[in-house]
Amino acid sequence: MISNAQILSNNAEVLTVGALVLPGRAFLAPMAGVTDSAMRRLAERFGAALTFSEMLEAEFYLGGDREAAIRAEGEGIATHVVQIAGCAPYPLAEAARLAEAAGARMIDINMGCPAKRVTGGAAGSALMRDLDLAIELVRAVIAAVKVPVSLKMRLGWDAETLNAPELARRAEVEGVAMITVHGRTRCQFYNGKADWPGIRRVREAVTVPLVANGDCLGADDAQAMIAASGADAVMIGRAAIGRPWLIGQIADDLAGRAIAPDPSPSQRIAAAHEHYRSLLSLFGVAKGLRHARKHLSGYVQGACGPDTAALRKRLVTSEEPAEVEALLALMLSREPPAGVA
Ligand SMILES: Cc1cc2nc3c(=O)[nH]c(=O)nc-3n(C[C@H](O)[C@H](O)[C@H](O)COP(=O)(O)O)c2cc1C
Repeated sequence: MISNAQILSNNAEVLTVGALVLPGRAFLAPMAGVTDSAMRRLAERFGAALTFSEMLEAEFYLGGDREAAIRAEGEGIATHVVQIAGCAPYPLAEAARLAEAAGARMIDINMGCPAKRVTGGAAGSALMRDLDLAIELVRAVIAAVKVPVSLKMRLGWDAETLNAPELARRAEVEGVAMITVHGRTRCQFYNGKADWPGIRRVREAVTVPLVANGDCLGADDAQAMIAASGADAVMIGRAAIGRPWLIGQIADDLAGRAIAPDPSPSQRIAAAHEHYRSLLSLFGVAKGLRHARKHLSGYVQGACGPDTAALRKRLVTSEEPAEVEALLALMLSREPPAGVA
């Protein structure tokens, strides 16, 4: 007999992860310095089924670090996921407990970050070199919270140690509810092309929902990633910067629906203004201005006109919020309609 959970998990419009029923199969990736709560809120509103916070280092979060608290912010986000990183079971479990108490509906453990600062502390992707420790961390976090716990990893540390299937299999035994694989090794950082067929080896090792990640630029890529990897869902990072609606469009296509058209210029201006204002209130004006730069460049990436380069420069260096908003409105109103995802 087929259970309700199986019916749901076989329906392309939803994905069941632990007790959560997600309304689609395209997610926003965690990106430190990028996926602030304002971006996650917009992406979710445009149809992303799940959005991940920037990575929080457990010890900083527990120590009351303001930046970590901002990263954990989830106001207005229906399915708020907090990603944590660390290399010791107790602080990682306590960070998970704190995030859950603050409203997280899922906890994601980072085992993919390649940065030396993180891997030097044996966290992030360094855990792929010590699977016993990795599993100890997974076990501690799962024991600490009631919400589902997911894991994000790479294919392995380097081309000689592609141990993602083993880590995934052992994590599934511990009770991990979902696994994301970025189809590169740690030693590749962001070089080369993500290996989507390589993710299939993890598919063959686990039955929990699997998410494929790396170099997905639109709906065609998402379909190709799923076909190559056998994953249940896709996660999009860099391609969504300045385009928070992209993930909803991909979710439409994966669900077999017509892809929502790109937002009109006035809708894009409204989204960019909302994002910008939220950043200033989240970080304060001085820090918010700096934090906003990569988003501002992203929003105007398709702008055209002979003075575009000068306007873009002014946009990302201006310290006058009113001027930034006026520039956004000017540049986005000139943008030609973009192609479909
Ligand atoms: C600026 C930046 C910050 C990132 N920060 C994180 C992070 O905090 N946690 C994480 O698991 N991955 C992080 N990543 C990796 C992304 O989640 C994703 O795995 C990677 O960008 C590949 O996906 P993409 O090709 O769709 O961007 C980051 C990537 C970028 C570009």
